[in-house]
Amino acid sequence: MKLLVTGGAGFIGSNFVIYMLKQHPEYKIVNVDSLTYAGNLENLKSVEGNPNYSFVKADITDVQAMDALFSQGVDVVVNFAAESHVDRSILEPDVFVKTNVLGTQVLLDAAKKYSVTKFVQVSTDEVYGTLGATGLFTEETPLTPNSPYSASKAGGDLLVRAYHETFGLPVNITRCSNNYGPYQFPEKLIPLMISRALADQALPVYGDGLNIRDWLYVEDHCSAIDLVIHEGVNGEVYNIGGNNERTNVHIVNTVLQELGKPDSLITYVQDRPGHDRRYGIDPTKITNELGWKPKHTFETGIKETIQWYLNNREWWTRIQSGEYQKYAELQYGSR
Ligand code: NAD
Ligand code: DAU
Repeated sequence: MKLLVTGGAGFIGSNFVIYMLKQHPEYKIVNVDSLTYAGNLENLKSVEGNPNYSFVKADITDVQAMDALFSQGVDVVVNFAAESHVDRSILEPDVFVKTNVLGTQVLLDAAKKYSVTKFVQVSTDEVYGTLGATGLFTEETPLTPNSPYSASKAGGDLLVRAYHETFGLPVNITRCSNNYGPYQFPEKLIPLMISRALADQALPVYGDGLNIRDWLYVEDHCSAIDLVIHEGVNGEVYNIGGNNERTNVHIVNTVLQELGKPDSLITYVQDRPGHDRRYGIDPTKITNELGWKPKHTFETGIKETIQWYLNNREWWTRIQSGEYQKYAELQYGSR
């Protein structure tokens, strides 16, 4: 099996490449990534030199580059490549539309031309919009995205659906809740709070801190995608989540406790515009139909994650000293 992983130098993509090479050592994996600010080949050091792994630096919106890549033979595509950060989509929506919508369409065209046997679109629960105090997102929940990021992901999802309906492309769409774990870029809530707490910097909590996210350890997301590749029924959507709803302030307090830092670091700041109040995934379909079960509880996963960031300070301090600085200044000022 030859697997094309797009965005494999990012957080989830790099965890997925490592996971798949371990689970299926006989598979050939090609990682295509344009190495934006979020792409980091350091994440893949442990698989460099594996004869079944190769890396190609290219942009998924580049039609010629994608054609050349697919013409070498691809069985399965897993599309992780995306602009992924909601706050950045509020500052600069255009690149989100380019990569997440146009890039997906370029990949779909190549997948159709070269008759891939499966195209998995890695999407997000954010396309469903926000929940009130009760209920969960199912695969039938209407798409009502609220941020430029989630709107661009919904656009990509609808194209994937359309290529199945119109051209019979064998596709699946997965919609996962918030991931956490090793190699997550320190702009996202958990690694941001860990790195800032360790530096005794203020921890910016948006609004009242009571927004809820449903957390999933990244390896459990990888195992779900592995199952979808092999068992997913073409044309179907699968929600992925581990029933771990937590308020943001609970997450921040957990990080502070684990690191032995004071609550006084918490600073309530202006809310994110269009901030979704609550996400909660109903994973019944993937659980009952494909037999997926997460291995990690939130309590063990968060401890392991904090320990990983403590053991890998060089990884995130190098990132923070690069291009990220400009964004951090804009977002957090001198706090
Ligand atoms: P990330 O930002 O860490 O990584 C994205 C990767 O895509 C980077 O390596 C980047 O260089 C690459 N990329 C961006 N634009 C590209 C382009 N035009 N061409 C080629 N490569 C490009 O993102 P992540 O958190 O790992 O998310 C991966 C996917 O999973 C995304 O599609 C995201 O929408 C989805 N997702 C993420 C989460 C989460 O909690 N992080 C949850 C559900 C779904
Ligand atoms: O739900 C899945 C989505 O989860 C993915 O599709 C996205 O790619 C991923 O970035 C993530 O989106 P969120 O917006 O939920 O993640 P983020 O880490 O940016 O924020 C999590 C929550 O924490 C959210 O309610 C906003 C809040 N927050 C975030 C930051 C960065 C703060 O209060 N302060 C912060 O500084």
